[in-house]
Amino acid sequence: MATMTSLIGLINKIQRACTVLGDHGGEGMSLWEALPSVAVVGGQSSGKSSVLESVVGRDFLPRGSGIVTRRPLVLQLHQTEGGTDYAEFLHAPRKKFTDFGMVITIQLHSIRMIRHIAFTPFETECCPETGSLIINSDLTFKLIFLLLVLIDSESASNNHFLKYAAVRKEISDETDRITGKSKQISNIPIQLSIYSPNVVNLTLIDLPGLTKVAVEGQPESIVEDIENMVRSYVEKPSCIILAISPANQDIATSDAIKLAREVDPTGERTFGVLTKLDLMDKGTNALEVLEGRSYRLQHPWVGIVNRSQADINKNVDMIAARRKEREYFETSPEYGHLASKMGSEYLAKLLSQHLERVIRQRIPSIIALINKNIDEINAELDRIGRPIGVDSGAQLYTILEMCRAFERVFKEHLD
Ligand code: GDP
Ligand code: NA
Ligand code: MG
Repeated sequence: MATMTSLIGLINKIQRACTVLGDHGGEGMSLWEALPSVAVVGGQSSGKSSVLESVVGRDFLPRGSGIVTRRPLVLQLHQTEGGTDYAEFLHAPRKKFTDFGMVITIQLHSIRMIRHIAFTPFETECCPETGSLIINSDLTFKLIFLLLVLIDSESASNNHFLKYAAVRKEISDETDRITGKSKQISNIPIQLSIYSPNVVNLTLIDLPGLTKVAVEGQPESIVEDIENMVRSYVEKPSCIILAISPANQDIATSDAIKLAREVDPTGERTFGVLTKLDLMDKGTNALEVLEGRSYRLQHPWVGIVNRSQADINKNVDMIAARRKEREYFETSPEYGHLASKMGSEYLAKLLSQHLERVIRQRIPSIIALINKNIDEINAELDRIGRPIGVDSGAQLYTILEMCRAFERVFKEHLD
């Protein structure tokens, strides 16, 4: 995300300042407290997980029709100095999902082969309708590839490398561990961290969908329980809300807009996202909403075309999905004139610009905190009599200097 360059610079400075303030002890500040989070809110299957993946620019979330997201997923992106991407779950610390960026699927050409492989004791998921096989470990992939060569050399050479699903599988396994393989929902969040040189430090939250009625196997209170859970995340003033509504439903009934309006009446931290434009009835369009006539928000509405269920089954990747989305808007008779302000990439750009504005607003309080530290350090130096040498006094001088440097740096951002 090229548009994030200045945002990254700013966040990195804050991170360094937090480290210095934290080093000094006392009332430090955590980076994650200083930064806003972004949460997706909307009805079931409105496209929340799909939009979040697009914003992160990676395929890793369980998606699909029905109740797929059944626990909140709190995703912390950590920018690293370099090296390869890896993911780590709070519930399984020290287990690094280093294969996070690797994406492998083999498209199989015969049911016979699927059966054959399904009987093998490997970590795989088969999808007979589409003839695809999702492989959950690198070793498994090598073994299966070998097996394919043995069974049918033609299919093996025709294999497509598409999807590697270890992180996604762990999210759904961990969901099941708490909720059982039912339609139960749990408010215990799954915490996932992604470390990469190509992300910006940020917390993103995927939430279960708001519902209107309990379905078989769910308690009556489910509608309210989910709403309260979602509200507990989005009512925080530091939470930026992506309010997701599907274009093939009436916007007046949008749960996302209803809840967003309740917790953010002025709309300053709400982004209206209209998904499924491609699924609208022929002869209808969403211009009334997208041009802000049916429901006005502070920020402009963004229309999105995510991957369809058929695309998911065929393992269409993010890059292809974005290309398709861009083409959709560019060639659309209805939305062509809005093409540059539509789509996932534009949403990511809007979001990063907004984040930068919000983070800039925090600078005065960060400067205040730095000044408080400077005062405290000065008082301590006065008390211990400002000694010279390799002792605690010298260390304090260093921190003092760093604080002063940060104060100068942040003041430049104040204009
Ligand atoms: P969530 O339940 O709100 O997290 O929604 P998901 O992201 O899991 O998507 C639910 C289903 O809707 C999946 O089958 C997606 O493929 C499909 N879907 C989401 N957005 C779109 C879209 O813009 N167009 C189409 N055709 N399908 C979509
Ligand atoms: Na869903
Ligand atoms: Mg979801």
